[in-house]
Amino acid sequence: MNLLKSMILSAVAATVVTGAAVMSGHAQRGDLISFPNDYAKGVAYQTVDRADLKQVRVLYASSQSVLDAAKAGKPLPDGTVLTMVQYAAQVDDKGEPVKGPNGRFVRTDKIVGYTVMEKRPGWGKDVPAEIRNGDWQYQAFLPDRTPNPKAQLAGCFKCHLPLTEKQDFVFSWDGLRTAAK
Ligand code: HEC
Repeated sequence: MNLLKSMILSAVAATVVTGAAVMSGHAQRGDLISFPNDYAKGVAYQTVDRADLKQVRVLYASSQSVLDAAKAGKPLPDGTVLTMVQYAAQVDDKGEPVKGPNGRFVRTDKIVGYTVMEKRPGWGKDVPAEIRNGDWQYQAFLPDRTPNPKAQLAGCFKCHLPLTEKQDFVFSWDGLRTAAK
């Protein structure tokens, strides 16, 4: 085999290996997360109005102990599930979100989707270090509660990463603490 040909072949082999590691390296394991059917039995700790998406998002923690940990400034307990239910906001005839007497958006009953993050011991170990969020894994679900096949799970890790372990990669950390009472 001439040198050029062998260089090309090894480059191709390297690409295939790297690609395979990213694809099947058990990094983004949304499949580990089952839809949290009992999310509403947890604690609804915060509501977020999203003008850009015309959504009202209701955030649930799987138990009071999650809120207590955040309040104590500790990592959230193993087994924590955070569920964000995305409702379409009520809009006026111009398509602008309607505000209620409290100045907040009014939600419809229409659920647009769900996003879930869950942490279990060891779940982060195969996630590449540059995007690892402790032991968290992420999944998005469709309104029918099946996994969203279009979810870009690496994006979840990347966007939540800057929150750092100081607030356990959770955007709504202050919301958890405030709701802890
Ligand atoms: C571009 C940034 C970005 C990406 C990508 C992203 N998130 Fe988030 N996530 C947020 C923000 C900001 C919030 C706080 C709520 C809000 O403002 O809508 C949030 C909140 C959450 C929450 C509630 C807990 C918390 O951290 O406050 C969950 C659960 C969640 N996201 C899951 C996911 C999943 C699953 C994915 C990938 C399918 C994902 N996120 C992708 C920015 C992002």
